[in-house]
Amino acid sequence: MQWSNSPSRYGLTSVLMHWSVAVVVFGLFALGYWMVGLDYYSSWYRTGPDLHKSIGLVLFALMVLRVLWRVLSPAPAALAEHGALTRFASKLGHAFLYLGLFVVMISGYLISTADGRGIEVFGLFEIPATLTSIPDQEDVAGLVHKFMAWTLVIFAGVHALAALKHHFIDRDRTLLRMFGR
Ligand code: HEM
Repeated sequence: MQWSNSPSRYGLTSVLMHWSVAVVVFGLFALGYWMVGLDYYSSWYRTGPDLHKSIGLVLFALMVLRVLWRVLSPAPAALAEHGALTRFASKLGHAFLYLGLFVVMISGYLISTADGRGIEVFGLFEIPATLTSIPDQEDVAGLVHKFMAWTLVIFAGVHALAALKHHFIDRDRTLLRMFGR
């Protein structure tokens, strides 16, 4: 299997990035959901959010690389058996997944840095605060983050169901291609 995409297949780089982003996104959602309900006296009260922010920033770096990679190594063409509507829906859906991810990550950064303090990434280095002047920044970014995180996971679920429908009902190569086949 080759690293870059070809006109008919996803290469290893895109496959690895797709599946690692998928695991991280569902994992971050679960962690976020769990940590907001933690009691102040829980030993995870600080560790949970620290981990959530650190992993979120690593995901941001990975997504920037993924977008660059997509420009350098374009995705394979749509399958011949996919009609105009399927092609349009999948382009729109994928664009929404990319955009939604950036909205969730940027709003998360804006919540955490609203007070002017940077974010420590795994205690190794700090990403500084930049924008701190949005009125009620923490609350506004918090609302956007929560709303878009839910929208994104629901949408990713629909996206996964569509992939399974292609595989089990239409019996085409859509899902296999995302495993580099
Ligand atoms: C949070 C989870 C997920 C996100 C954010 C996500 C995002 C994306 C994006 C952005 C693409 C377009 C790739 C490109 O061409 O640049 C894509 C393609 C694809 N995804 Fe996902 N995905 C997720 C989970 C899943 C799951 C769970 C499945 C399967 C069960 C899946 C199956 C596929 C398939 C088969 C394609 C290729 C579609 C095609 O070639 O037209 N994805 N995904």
